[in-house]
Amino acid sequence: EKDMPYMAAVMTLSDKGFRGERVDTSGPRAAEILKEHGFKIVEEILLPDEEAQIKKHLIRLSDSRQVDLIITTGGTGLSPRDRTPEATLAVADRNVPGISEAIRAGSMTITKRAMLSRGVSVIRKKTLIINLPGSKKAVEESLSFIIDQLPHGLDTLR
Ligand code: MTE
Repeated sequence: EKDMPYMAAVMTLSDKGFRGERVDTSGPRAAEILKEHGFKIVEEILLPDEEAQIKKHLIRLSDSRQVDLIITTGGTGLSPRDRTPEATLAVADRNVPGISEAIRAGSMTITKRAMLSRGVSVIRKKTLIINLPGSKKAVEESLSFIIDQLPHGLDTLR
């Protein structure tokens, strides 16, 4: 295990947030929880639900910035505008289904609507990318089911 903190980026996907019609609290909350667990947040970005833009920034953050972890929030539901899983799968080298399975299984004990998140977890190069739903509550709940296991996974990736 390296002593260096893991570098993480948080990407919020929200048309309304991007247009300034809503203040998105899910991304900032994800960043806060990651910091509490020793991660260094190197970037927090807010994007509209546009597949091309999401892909572009996922590629930049993993290939150029070489962050260890990218957490996305939002855009995982069934609305036609929800494109986060498609963008994430499009840039993926390998799938890590167990992380999203753990999020949905844990979340199902809180709300049955957890089944409506299509979020995926993947690896691109040496970066782990995890999709979370777009509410502050869902972010807190989802991270609680996975965060303790992330350091071991990230060590293996390095
Ligand atoms: N997961 C948890 N833990 N808590 C929640 O409140 N909300 C669900 C689901 N997953 C929720 C959750 C709901 S209502 C939806 S529509 C989906 O996440 C997708 O959310 P998104 O479109 O913001 O990504």
